[in-house]
Amino acid sequence: MTETDVIIIGAGASGLMCAIEAGKRGRKVLVLDHANKPGKKILMSGGGRCNFTNYSIEPENFISNNPHFCKSALTRYTQWDFLALIESYQIAFHEREHGQLFCNDSAKDILNMLLAECHKAGVVIQLNTVITEVKHSGDAFLLASHQDRYCCASLVIATGGLSIPKMGATPFGYKIAEQLGIKVWPTRAGLVPFTLQPDDKDTFSPLSGIAIACVVSNARQSFHENILLTHRGLSGPAILQMSSYWQSGEAVMVDLLPDLDIEQLLKTKRQQKAKNILKTILENYLPKRLIGCLFSEELLSLSLQDCSDKHIAAVATQLHQWSLKPNGTEGYRTAEVTLGGVDCDAISSKTMASKAIPNLYFVGEVMDVTGWLGGYNFQWAWSSAWCAGQYV
Ligand code: FDA
Repeated sequence: MTETDVIIIGAGASGLMCAIEAGKRGRKVLVLDHANKPGKKILMSGGGRCNFTNYSIEPENFISNNPHFCKSALTRYTQWDFLALIESYQIAFHEREHGQLFCNDSAKDILNMLLAECHKAGVVIQLNTVITEVKHSGDAFLLASHQDRYCCASLVIATGGLSIPKMGATPFGYKIAEQLGIKVWPTRAGLVPFTLQPDDKDTFSPLSGIAIACVVSNARQSFHENILLTHRGLSGPAILQMSSYWQSGEAVMVDLLPDLDIEQLLKTKRQQKAKNILKTILENYLPKRLIGCLFSEELLSLSLQDCSDKHIAAVATQLHQWSLKPNGTEGYRTAEVTLGGVDCDAISSKTMASKAIPNLYFVGEVMDVTGWLGGYNFQWAWSSAWCAGQYV
């Protein structure tokens, strides 16, 4: 039997951060993970450069059934705190659009920094450990794995969400919560590409590779970013963001020319250059192949003088309000995050401890807090884990 003060299940972003903070307080910390390496998602994040936080972190950048829950942790351990840690390790980073911060070199720098901090704080990390049982008994938690039995005073669940099962994602955290009587909101894939209805897929898959700056919206949100046509459907930052706000069966609206009033432009050109062909004008603003898929050849071959107001209005509607009904999403196989999870109302926003079960903590993505694309999910992992680390 291994006895320790704190066991953290999950050696990902939040588990390592919590371990560091608890270790710094002199707590004896053991991190258990079933994977053969720690921090696999950190390594694959941000295309290998890890978008580790964002210059602008606001509660509005997070989705939860309790939208107030994240505020406390995000103000107690901020992006500036994480940046100070990065700078103390002289990790070079750069800003991309929308305040997103990436390593110049490699996501490995972030993982190595966390592992170095764990080492300094005396944290023990044990990999290849499959937990087969968790019991709450009196003041202690009793765990079993294939190799050993464990006893700890505080237990932290940092097992993340369901995205990318190949990287070791499991529903472990949700199951433990439910086993201990804690509500779990239904989960679904977020920050994930859309698949298209069969007809749309046939039409648009030949356009794979085209990227366009658009506004993608539904009744609840809108994002002004690129969309990317792929052979499976739609991707790109605007689509990934919208997927987290999308409900199955709903249409999304795409404004393909958000910075132009195409109706006005075509009417003006009709007066100035009546003989110009509609297709030639539109091809100045959007890729030829896309124009060819959106409109009939008959319409496109009209000269502007033959375009009625009705024709022009129809073109404008198609380009500014292209309504697309996704067939679904690519699911957890390619999603960056999991929406839903452990109910925040059951957790203290100060300590991340369960309100019902003393000394049981949840941190990171396993909770019902999901960030936008742009470094927000890592910031939630750092902030929530830092808070728990002060109390475990
Ligand atoms: P995380 O998933 O990091 O860690 C969970 C750990 O628990 C893993 O080590 C896993 O092996 C372990 N585990 C799971 N089940 C277990 C079990 N049954 N027993 C033992 N251990 C178990 N975010 C961002 O802000 N910027 C970015 O650039 C990206 N990029 C990105 C790319 C890709 C491809 C993905 C899939 C995700 C991102 N993300 C991201 C999201 C980000 O990676 C994610 O939100 C955080 O890693 C969540 O941190 P956690 O510690 O909660 O879980």
